[in-house]
Amino acid sequence: MNDAVNLSADRLRQACGGTVPRCAVLLGSGWTVLGDALQEQAALDYAALPAFPALGVAGHVGRVRAGTLGGVPVLLLSGRKHTYEDGDAAAMKGAIRTLAAAGVTTLLQTNAAGSLDPAMPPGALMLVEDHLNIVQRSPLHGEPGNGRFVDMAAAYHPALRTAALQAAADIGLRLHSGVYAWVLGPQFETPAEIRMLQRLGAQAVGMSTVPETILARHAGLKVLALSMITNMGCGLSSEQLSHAHTLASAQAASADALRLVEALLPRIESLT
Ligand code: HPA
Repeated sequence: MNDAVNLSADRLRQACGGTVPRCAVLLGSGWTVLGDALQEQAALDYAALPAFPALGVAGHVGRVRAGTLGGVPVLLLSGRKHTYEDGDAAAMKGAIRTLAAAGVTTLLQTNAAGSLDPAMPPGALMLVEDHLNIVQRSPLHGEPGNGRFVDMAAAYHPALRTAALQAAADIGLRLHSGVYAWVLGPQFETPAEIRMLQRLGAQAVGMSTVPETILARHAGLKVLALSMITNMGCGLSSEQLSHAHTLASAQAASADALRLVEALLPRIESLT
C-alpha cells in the first residue's frame, strides 16, 4: 500500500507541475456540476494511480482533475468506490492517503442523500455537522499503531463548517445543517429503518462519505462534507426511489450547489 501511495502521489504532483492544490473535492452522485465548472489544467485517470480503486458503477468515471474552481486551485476527484460494491469499507484508502502524501490538507466531500427531516425537502443542501456510523464498519481494520484510534470529536472541521455557513449567507442560500447517517446499501432503506434513523438523531441518510471521513482524519486531513438532498427518506413521501431518480433530482440543486462551492472555496483557501 505504501509504495502504491508514494508512486501515486509522485504522479499526481508531476501532473500538477510540482505542487498539488491544498484542497481536494470528492464528487458524489449528482455533483457533476462542479466538474463542468472546473477550469482544468491537468487530469489523470485513476488507472494511472496505482493506489486508486478501479470503479465498477456506470456513471462513476475515475478521474483526478487539477484546475481552478471559483478562482481557487483544487483537485477534483470524480469517482468513488462505495462500500456497497463489494463490502470493502477501505475501498478509498489508497486514494485518500495519496492526497495526504501529495500535499492536500483539506478534503471537501460531496454526496447525495435522502432527507429524514420534513423541513428539508429534495433540492436542499445540507452541511454535515456530524455523522452516525450505524453500520459500525471501519476502513481502519487491520491498521497498525495507535494512530488508528482516531479522535472523531470534530470530524467535520468546526472552522470549515462555520466557513460553509458564512459562504451560504454571503450568497443568500439556505444551507441546512445536520447529522448524516451512513447505511451500507445498495438497497434503499425500509420505512421502519427511516423511522429508526430519525429517532437516532439523523437528518440525512446516504451510502458514502463516512469511510472517507474516517480515512481522511486518520491521514490528518481536515474534512468538510456537503449533502445534496435528492429525495425524502423511504416512507416520508410517495415518490419511488431509484438511482436514476437520485441523479435526476440532483439537477434541481445543481445551480445552488455550484454557487455554494464557488463561494466557499476562497474561504477554505484562506483557512488552509
Ligand atoms: N438513502 C440512502 N442513500 C441515498 C438516498 C436515500 O434515500 N438518497 C440518495 N442516497
